Amino acid sequence: MLESPAVSERRWTAPLAERWCDLRNRILTSQNFQYWAAKLPFSRSVARYAARDSFDLVAGFVYSQVLFACVQLRLFEHLLGGSRRLPYLARRMGLKLEPAERLLRAAQSLKLVTQISPDRYCLGPRGAAIAGNPGILSMIAHHALLYRDLADPVALLRGEERNTELSHYWSYCTDNPNALTATDVASYTQLMSQSQTFVAAQIIDAYPFHRHRRILDIGGGEGTFLMAVADRVPTIDLTLFDVPPVADRGRENFLARGLGGRATAIGGDFFKDALPRGADLVSLVRVVHDHDDAAVMQLLRRIRAGMDDCATLLIAEPMAGQPLVRPSGMPISASICWRWAAGRRVRRAS
Ligand SMILES: C[S@@+](CC[C@H](N)C(=O)[O-])C[C@H]1O[C@@H](n2cnc3c(N)ncnc32)[C@H](O)[C@@H]1O
Repeated sequence: MLESPAVSERRWTAPLAERWCDLRNRILTSQNFQYWAAKLPFSRSVARYAARDSFDLVAGFVYSQVLFACVQLRLFEHLLGGSRRLPYLARRMGLKLEPAERLLRAAQSLKLVTQISPDRYCLGPRGAAIAGNPGILSMIAHHALLYRDLADPVALLRGEERNTELSHYWSYCTDNPNALTATDVASYTQLMSQSQTFVAAQIIDAYPFHRHRRILDIGGGEGTFLMAVADRVPTIDLTLFDVPPVADRGRENFLARGLGGRATAIGGDFFKDALPRGADLVSLVRVVHDHDDAAVMQLLRRIRAGMDDCATLLIAEPMAGQPLVRPSGMPISASICWRWAAGRRVRRAS
């Protein structure tokens, strides 16, 4: 096919990286190249790897659904005590033998279970890692909503499908979070609390909390992170700020844990209401990623305005630096690979 002069001219004036991409893509899209790469001995293994890689991309949705079915049917829990026979597992999952076996085979291919004899299975390496982590189990269960919202990704991208299930679930995405009820916040707050089990330990390991006397956790959920800090640092006092019904849950949790004397929970909208003062450490854990940049800047300015000069703002953001998606070859490790932007001192925002 003849190229327009503009295209061929651009190829020679384009930056080196772009010219390299053009060349690579022309080669990779050529059916002749694909045919010979798969045929010739020295390129065959690379071609097979690339084909598997592309197939993973196509099958990613199926992998997620297999994982979801395992979690929904509590397969990992049924295997927690050790290997089990297929009829037992089928019965516990409420499935007939044949579909149960189909699911187990699919799960085996994803290393979620291991088949140890023709009709006996135990947890696979990935299944074992998931089974031991209630936070991941709840996240996977919650992803049913995400998958439903993504059923028509094009409509979502075009903004045609605005009434998403996730926006109802994360009910604080509203103009008036102070009007939320206990029912509105119950399920997301529970999910956040369960997934704190693997977040809190990493943050506490990463930052010297013992240097502080009072921590204010903004958007702190029902206090799970603060209670983990209190367990590790008995000298620090705790203040939690979140929307009123979530703060109520936090207050109850503090009292139930016997922390009433050193922990306070205050309800309000962090974009509008006065933030509690007097803390020498302010934390934002998994809060910043929820909002657009302008809203985050507004929140940071409000926090800075109420902070003492020697106070520190700690931002713990598991999503920092993460690409949008990861290869489906590592579906589990992707969700537990966190990076922290911790211990950052903020300057006075002008
Ligand atoms: C993603 S959750 C993180 C919860 C907790 N920091 C954690 O890591 O488990 C975000 C939290 O911010 C709270 N939040 C969102 N918007 C808020 C607002 N305008 N005012 C106060 N809290 C808010 C939510 O209620 C929720 O508890």
